[in-house]
Amino acid sequence: MSSEQTIAEVSAEPGAAKPDPILVADGPRRSFGGLTAVDVDHLQVQRGTITALIGPNGAGKSTLFNVLTGFDRADSGSWAFEGGRINGLPGHQVAQRGMVRTFQLTKALTRLTVLENMLLAAPGQSGERFLGSFLRWRWARQEDSNRERAESLLERFRLAHMRDETAGSLSGGQRKLLEMARALMVRPSMVMLDEPMAGVNPVLVESLLEHISALRDEGTTVLFVEHDMDVIMGISDWIVVMAEGRVIAEGRPDDIRSNQVVIDAYLGAQHDEPPQGVESGAAEGIEEAR
Ligand SMILES: Nc1ncnc2c1ncn2[C@@H]1O[C@H](COP(=O)(O)OP(=O)(O)OP(=O)(O)O)[C@@H](O)[C@H]1O
Ligand SMILES: [Mg+2]
Repeated sequence: MSSEQTIAEVSAEPGAAKPDPILVADGPRRSFGGLTAVDVDHLQVQRGTITALIGPNGAGKSTLFNVLTGFDRADSGSWAFEGGRINGLPGHQVAQRGMVRTFQLTKALTRLTVLENMLLAAPGQSGERFLGSFLRWRWARQEDSNRERAESLLERFRLAHMRDETAGSLSGGQRKLLEMARALMVRPSMVMLDEPMAGVNPVLVESLLEHISALRDEGTTVLFVEHDMDVIMGISDWIVVMAEGRVIAEGRPDDIRSNQVVIDAYLGAQHDEPPQGVESGAAEGIEEAR
């Protein structure tokens, strides 16, 4: 049975247990001064699915990503990836285990070329430390395969023609693509994408969506933050909704579309509007969110 079929049986409620979770988080919590940015009871992500993490601005989505991936320190909580505890590990160690994330604001090294950015993200960089000729030979072989992978990913993300330009010369959208391509250098078993489509032109959004579906079809688990409801409803197997630091709803697209708690959260959030495509009398006549 595929992951999509198995997730069809899961009850649509916050903290729902999944049949085959790749990531299990218990009580991740992070506050900034008096503000509780994240306070999640329990969250499981089903292996092999595309799961969307949505919610109004300031809901805590990026903070949850930061905490789970070791880029920020949680106040409390524990979480496991592929059955192994990863809370407390720094980001690069989390990535080594196969859970790789991208940032809402891209982190490309602007003075290096696009290709150099890709190669720096490659696995096996520790090979540099060994000087034995056999290891050096092996290292060169690894370089070759890294280079091949880098070139093919750049091709896939339509960045091949920019490979020798500095990353700083890319458009905002192209940097997003570079960031996703970089994340894939390590062949992660799970990618966490924070607003991968933001600032990307509509033509590239289409191909980005195809890449995300292809990743899932190859067996990679995808957790992504997005605001565009058409995109979310169209591509997600499962949706997790956050508001004010908590998970307030989970379910398949159809469960979320008609979930009053979700509609209320978007209506109640300051400076935000309910998502387009949420069907409710309460949301009638309300325009697209971003
Ligand atoms: N480093 C920080 N210092 C202080 N407050 C922070 C920090 N990072 C986030 N916050 C606050 O935590 C809350 C959650 O922010 P977060 O960026 O996680 O939200 P988000 O759901 O990703 O929002 P958006 O959709 O706008 O990206 C917000 O109120 C934000 O202002
Ligand atoms: Mg964010």
